[in-house]
Amino acid sequence: MSRIIKTINREVIKKTVQRCREKNVIIPTFAQMRDPETIPGPVRSRLKGVGLWDVNPVNLFRITWKNDIATGLYGGVNCLEIPREITGIKARVIGLVGKYFPTGAHKVGAAFGCLVPRLVSGEFDPTVHKAVWPSTGNYCRGGAFDSVIMGCTPIAILPEEMSKERFEWLKEIGAEVIATKGCESNVKEIYDKCHELRRDPQNMIFNQFEEFGNPIWHYNVTGPAIQEVFDGLNRLNGSKLQAAAYISATGSAGTIAAGDYPRTLHPHIRVIATEAQQCPTLFMNGFGGHRIEGIGDKHVPWVHNVRNTDAVAAIDDEDCMRILRLFNEKDGREYLKTLKVPKETIEKLPLMGVSSICNLLAAVKAAKYYELGEDDVIFTIFTDSAEMYGSRLQELAKERGAYDGTQALRDFEGPLAHQGQDWFRELNYRDRKQVHNLKYYTWVEQQGKSYEEIQEQWDPEYWRALFEDEVGYFDRLIGEFNQEVGIN
Ligand SMILES: Cc1ncc(COP(=O)(O)O)c(C=O)c1O
Repeated sequence: MSRIIKTINREVIKKTVQRCREKNVIIPTFAQMRDPETIPGPVRSRLKGVGLWDVNPVNLFRITWKNDIATGLYGGVNCLEIPREITGIKARVIGLVGKYFPTGAHKVGAAFGCLVPRLVSGEFDPTVHKAVWPSTGNYCRGGAFDSVIMGCTPIAILPEEMSKERFEWLKEIGAEVIATKGCESNVKEIYDKCHELRRDPQNMIFNQFEEFGNPIWHYNVTGPAIQEVFDGLNRLNGSKLQAAAYISATGSAGTIAAGDYPRTLHPHIRVIATEAQQCPTLFMNGFGGHRIEGIGDKHVPWVHNVRNTDAVAAIDDEDCMRILRLFNEKDGREYLKTLKVPKETIEKLPLMGVSSICNLLAAVKAAKYYELGEDDVIFTIFTDSAEMYGSRLQELAKERGAYDGTQALRDFEGPLAHQGQDWFRELNYRDRKQVHNLKYYTWVEQQGKSYEEIQEQWDPEYWRALFEDEVGYFDRLIGEFNQEVGIN
């Protein structure tokens, strides 16, 4: 029995098949996103000449970590190692790169994971429903992109203070946009808007904080990508490396679920959540506004397998903004050259947006806390890139004046070199239970989840079944659906 797909509606599937036939849509399976080498030749041929961000149905096949930007086809997992000259720690830090997904952010995959099971089972009717994507970050961009190319109408909801780039792009691709009051951490306002929209049966809400398609996608696509990078690196290093930690800045807590996959192979890996010191909800039930876009939403998401989170690192958003400047301002990069950071790395540092930098700083904290050595590898996700934060860089320049070498030295020495073990909390059994229990107030009291299910969530089997047993069923339905559409 599927926890996600409750019924199959053949009548609606027929209409959706027709829509997809008209729009030339084939839907990739989760297995193909994980291993794009299995994507059939005719689809690969259609990719030629289609840009990564083009609103073209074939770009569904670019929802993978393995896009080869040079050829437009597929290669290894896109990742970037941040060298010791920058981190100052012995352990190796490797981030999977989100920029090379359509929309420039990895959340397009999580949105796919939420929409597609409902589409191929006939729960979502693209001829009637509008897909509502509540988000504080890139999820609504990914959802809008997936919807538009599958012929569904998207509504994006996001706080009014999110970066200008996000709003402009959403309007460009034809999404209806609703700006709610406040900043990054004002999720309650987004939920209120969802309640309002839910009254209209035409609207189907894909709430990433409660949709299991979100972590299922990460467990089955991001998780194996991490393992593949580890295997490749380990082969080059005489098989002596250890997967020591996986770090994810949590918003909906979809991405952190990727850590549950390597845990099945490396039981001692530490899965570490990171959040803003200005809004330390997992760290100490804290709340507040902050500048790390995409994370820290003042509650514990329903889809977070808290029992598998070993530690929480809270990062000062000011440190992230200063490193954003260090990595992207000319004088910052000049300064990094004096530290002998390889030129190729300096060129790639703009692959990191603000939450990616938060992840990097958390990696430094974790390495110091756990005293990691040179054979230890820390994995993290560079969710989106600096391209998304051009306006933030301009705002910082206006507020603080032009960047120079002295400022670069300060920004390196403080936020990076002296990133300490403070604001790092290892979670014992009781601590985890405490964080888990916090879900009750949001989800059982306010959002209609059951008392029984929150209890079930404490059982590791609940998560194993969700992450491992559903995906085969999704892929079977996707395969049958494509067959009915009948194009190749
Ligand atoms: C830039 C950015 N970083 C991090 C996250 C957090 O990822 P998750 O929601 O999977 O926890 C998001 C989510 O939207 C994001 O947009």
